[in-house]
Amino acid sequence: MMAGMATGLTDRLLRRIERSGPITFAAFMSDALYDPDEGFYERGPTSAGTDGARATGAGEVGLGGSFVTSPHVSPVFGRLLARQVQDFDAALGRPAPFGLVDVGAGDGTLGEQIAGGIGDDLRARMELVLVERTARHRVLAEARRMPSATRIVAGLNELPAGSIEGCLIANELLDNLPFHLVRSTDGRVVELLVGAGSDGASLVLVDGPVSSDEIGRLAGALPPGQVATIPTGALAFVDAAAAVLRRGYALVVDYAATEDTDEFGGVHGYRGHGVVGDVLAHPGSSDVTAGVDMEVVARHAERAGFRVWGPVTQRDALAVLGFADEVEALRRAQVASLDESRGTEAVRAYSARGAARLLVERGGLGDFAVLCLGKGVGDAPPRCMTPPPEFRAGKGQAT
Ligand SMILES: C[S@@+](CC[C@H](N)C(=O)[O-])C[C@H]1O[C@@H](n2cnc3c(N)ncnc32)[C@H](O)[C@@H]1O
Repeated sequence: MMAGMATGLTDRLLRRIERSGPITFAAFMSDALYDPDEGFYERGPTSAGTDGARATGAGEVGLGGSFVTSPHVSPVFGRLLARQVQDFDAALGRPAPFGLVDVGAGDGTLGEQIAGGIGDDLRARMELVLVERTARHRVLAEARRMPSATRIVAGLNELPAGSIEGCLIANELLDNLPFHLVRSTDGRVVELLVGAGSDGASLVLVDGPVSSDEIGRLAGALPPGQVATIPTGALAFVDAAAAVLRRGYALVVDYAATEDTDEFGGVHGYRGHGVVGDVLAHPGSSDVTAGVDMEVVARHAERAGFRVWGPVTQRDALAVLGFADEVEALRRAQVASLDESRGTEAVRAYSARGAARLLVERGGLGDFAVLCLGKGVGDAPPRCMTPPPEFRAGKGQAT
C-alpha cells in the first residue's frame, strides 16, 4: 500500500505505534471506521468535503454518501425481507413480543422498510431494536418516525442474554466488523500489522507474529504468499447473536469473499462511490472492508449451537420471496399512471423498477450471500433459503 498524507487520525495512530509497536489490522480498522471524532462512519460524508457535508445530516451510506446498500437502492429489499420476517413469526408461533433486531442498522432505513412491510397483527406485537455502533447513525435513525416500540442501542451486548424471541437481521454489517490480516511466508503464517513507514509519517503493513492461537488456527494452511482476512469481528457477532437470542433466527446478508483475492487479501474501501485501494493512506476518509468468508462464519455458527441454512445468493433469496411480484406491481403502477396521463408518476415507477432490478443484478448486489441461522427452531428451512431449482446455480430469473 502507498504512503499517505498525515491526517489527525494518522498522527494519533503513528504516536500509538511509536509508543507500543505495530497494531493489528483489526485495531487499525476499528479506529479508521469508528473513532468517535474521525472514524469514517462518525464523521459523515466525505465526498463533498467533511465539514460542509457534516451539516447536511446525511449518513455515509446512501446516494449522498460513499456507497449504497440494498435498502438504499430500493425499498423492495425491505418489503421482501418483511415477508421472511412474517414467516419467522409464524414458525415461532406468533410470540408476543416478537423481537426484530436490526444489527448495524445505519440510519434506520432497513428497519423502517421492514416495519412498514409487515402486517398489522405482527406490528402490534413487534419490538423493533436498532443496534448501531456510531452516534452519528443513531441520531439519524432517531430522527425517523419509527413504530413506538422501537429502541436504539449502541451494541448487541446491551441486550440481556436470552432476551430476544424473534429474529436478528444484519445487512452489510459483517464486512465492516474488524478483521485480522495474515499471510503465509516460508511455510509459516505471519500476521500483517500496521506500522510506521520509513518516512515516519505514513502507515504501512509490516510482518509480525500471529496475535492469537485462534487466528493461527483460523488461518489454517494458506498457499504460499497468499494474504487472507480472519473475520474475528464477524465471529464475535455470531457469539453475541447466540447469547441474545432465546429462540429464533438470524439473517445475515453480505458480499462474500472470493478465491481470487489480491496481495492485500481483497481489502479495499469506498469513497464518493469509487473504490479505494490504499485504505492506510487517509484513515477515516473511506470505508475499510473485505468480502466475508461465509463458510468460516457458518462453521462457527454451528459450533455456537445454531442450525445453519445457506448461503444462497441475494438474487435467489429475493426471487423466492416474490421479487417478480414486486416488479410487476411497479410495472402496473407505471401503466396505470400513463393511462391517466400522470407522466411524472409513470417515470417514477419506471425508475423504481430499474432500481429494484439492481438488487438482483449479476456481478452486483444479486451475487451477495444470504445465510440464515436458527436457534431453538424446527428443521424446516426458511422460505428464502429454499429457492426452487430453476432459481439456483445462477439460473434465477428474478426480473
Ligand atoms: C455498511 S453499513 C450498513 C447499514 C445498514 N444495515 C444498511 O444495510 O444500509 C454498516 C453499519 O454497521 C454499523 N456497525 C458496525 N459495527 C457495529 C457493531 N458492532 N454493532 C452495531 N453496529 C455496527 C456501522 O456503524 C454502520 O452503520
